[in-house]
Amino acid sequence: MSNNVSRRQFAKIAGLSAAGIAGPLDAEAKPTSTQRSASNFPPGFLWGTATSSYQVEGAVNEDGRGVSIWDNFVRIPGKIEDGSSGERANEHYHRYKDDIARIKELGCKAYRFSVAWPRVFPDGDGKSNPKGLDFYNRLVDELLKNGIEPWLTLYHWDLPQSLQDRFGGWRSTETCKIFGDYAAYVAKHLTDRVRNVFTLNESGRFVYFGYGIGIDAPGLTLPQAEVNQVRHNSALAHGLAVQAVRAHGRRGTRVGPAENIDACIPAIDTPEHVRAAAIALREMNAGYLNVIMEGRYTDAFLKFAGADAPKYTDAELKIISSPVDFLGLNIYAPQHYIVPSDQGAGFAPLPIPKSFPHMNSDWLRVGPETIYWVPKLAAKIWKTDAIYISENGASGADQVTPDGKIYDTDRIMYLRNYLAQLQRATAEGVPVRGYFLWSLMDNFEWVYGLNKRFGLYHVNFDTQVRTPKLSADFYRNVIANNAAGA
Ligand code: BG6
Repeated sequence: MSNNVSRRQFAKIAGLSAAGIAGPLDAEAKPTSTQRSASNFPPGFLWGTATSSYQVEGAVNEDGRGVSIWDNFVRIPGKIEDGSSGERANEHYHRYKDDIARIKELGCKAYRFSVAWPRVFPDGDGKSNPKGLDFYNRLVDELLKNGIEPWLTLYHWDLPQSLQDRFGGWRSTETCKIFGDYAAYVAKHLTDRVRNVFTLNESGRFVYFGYGIGIDAPGLTLPQAEVNQVRHNSALAHGLAVQAVRAHGRRGTRVGPAENIDACIPAIDTPEHVRAAAIALREMNAGYLNVIMEGRYTDAFLKFAGADAPKYTDAELKIISSPVDFLGLNIYAPQHYIVPSDQGAGFAPLPIPKSFPHMNSDWLRVGPETIYWVPKLAAKIWKTDAIYISENGASGADQVTPDGKIYDTDRIMYLRNYLAQLQRATAEGVPVRGYFLWSLMDNFEWVYGLNKRFGLYHVNFDTQVRTPKLSADFYRNVIANNAAGA
């Protein structure tokens, strides 16, 4: 993009927005009832919060739970920033009833949790552990008793260590097959009450971080070809789980992925940039979401991967692309601002300026428009009629003030702006049906340990006392009004 072109385009945009501002300023200050309802989410929009097993449950040695790759990984010196682990975490395994009361207090209608695979099958396969399953029976019953829909994730990274030891974890399709069996078992026992199932959480993270750069469990640094194979296997595991839920779950059980989609956003809102961003979204997600939705790897993906491309069969592609009922998207930060290009597939990501603002995690850049553009482009590319934001939220350096309260106005700023953009999308008819805020409460944030706090509830990890932050009031208000607020 030449300087001249970019200056001209920016001048045009600046002119347009100046014209746009003139309208609202001239309008009467008090909104009419039509304007008020226009700022609402659609009726029946599903409001929820989310957590995951290893991050909140604790009780890692109780009731026959097997060892997961994270139990071992956290013990490697230097891997977890503050040297903590999920061994105790939020003691949610024992405190789940109180935690559900907190979900209810917020007015949430849904709760996304994950099943710890090694609780249900301590070795990943073979003999099941009924006591492990019972925890999820109790959890689901308690949720339903409180009028909260359970949304279950089958895999949020706590792979049974035994599968890592015997098969190299996701390096082998053996693990995929065993995952399918585990999914069938969970579906058989829980979908009499659980109507919605997410397969794997964030292939986009655990594959690269766990097998490529070694900063997540199992801590491997494999060559690119093997990383691509692991990613392919994760897509295969997803497909096998979809089929297992269909075959063994109650009829009508809905199933889909929960993916940290590689978020591509048009650098500016022109038809050319929007078109380029749509191409980019498809290509940048070619290794997982796109192959799930289209049943093929794109030509550009295969060309770019070259000799490192995954090995696969047509039969595997069929399994991978088993039809899903919804698309779960974890959306936090803008990853790539896209401009058109006459090179390659027709797009180019711009470098991210050093001064780009972020929350209390370096990676968590603040780009509220991400939650507008990504679902909008995803719905168009993959022609889906149901998208759920399976995660969105923000880390803060939350401090308890002398009055015992936590005034997390930075988190509220983030949520307010993201939700306003999400509402903008739904108002345009983008089929986003629900939103799960990450997270209900502060928890064990993987490599960051207990240092990064994402919760609506503050957790004192010594006493296990939970205290609602100001953002909990904010979210309760959002839910009550079915609106993001200004
Ligand atoms: C998502 C994960 O990547 O983001 C969650 O699904 C995680 O499990 C959240 O807690 C925040 O990420 P992080 O790396 O800051 O802990």
